[in-house]
Parts: sequence; C-alpha cells; structure tokens
Amino acid sequence: MKVQLALGALLLAAMPLAAQEGAALYKAKCFGCHGATGEGKAALAGTNLLTAEAKKRPDAELKAMIAEGGKKAKAAHAFEKKGVTPKQVDALLAYVRELQKK
Ligand code: HEC
Repeated sequence: MKVQLALGALLLAAMPLAAQEGAALYKAKCFGCHGATGEGKAALAGTNLLTAEAKKRPDAELKAMIAEGGKKAKAAHAFEKKGVTPKQVDALLAYVRELQKK
C-alpha cells in the first residue's frame, strides 16, 4: 500500500518534469514557427497547435508529426532525423498538451 502511494506520487511528479524538459526544447526548436503560446504564426499554415482538431488528435499522431513529419513525412518536421530522441519527443508532446490546456 505504502509502495503504491509512493509510486503514484512519483508518477505525478514525473508529469510536470517531462513538460518542463519539453518547454526548454520547445523554446529551442519549435518556438520559431509555433510561437510562445503554441498559437502559431498566421503566415505559416498549420502551425496553430491550439485548434480543436489538434487537441483531439491522439498522442501517437502528434508524436509521429513531431518525430517523422506526419503522414506526408515532411523532412523539415522529422525531428528524430535531426537528433531529437524519442524521449524528447515525449517531453515535447507533454509540453504541447500543457499549452493546449490553457
Ligand atoms: C519550420 C517551421 C516549424 C518548426 C521549427 C516546427 N514546426 Fe511543427 N509544424 C509546422 C507546420 C507548417 C505544421 C503543419 C504541417 C502540416 O499540416 O503538414 C506543423 C505541425 C505540427 C504539429 C501538428 C499540429 C496539428 O494540427 O496536428 C505538431 C504537434 C507540431 N508541429 C509540433 C512541433 C514541435 C514539437 C516542434 C519542435 C520540435 C515543431 N513543431 C517545430 C512548422 C514547424
């Protein structure tokens, strides 16, 4: 019982940590196109991460977008080919989900 409680607390503490790591990465790699709030740039179609559609998309889909450039496999958006690790993709997604909550 105690162990379960401790584990639960650990998991809760781990969530914001992932988002924090994601925040730093986001500022370095995503901010330029998606903006500080995730609202994106009007001149860059599709960069608004706060649309109802984007919020509804499953994690796997957004992760594939970040890691491999999505269905169209856009090279410029395939961040795993540019040195971003799968763990960092998770952190980025956690941060994007935080932005979407606001
Ligand atoms: C060079 C500009 C650019 C950069 C840098 C960039 N993106 Fe994007 N991103 C786009 C564009 C443009 C789209 C829309 C692509 C499409 O519709 O095919 C997009 C789409 C997305 C989507 C899917 C949105 C949706 O509506 O489903 C996510 C999630 C995303 N980007 C996250 C990120 C993350 C995280 C980073 C940083 C690692 C990042 N992007 C860096 C331009 C950029």
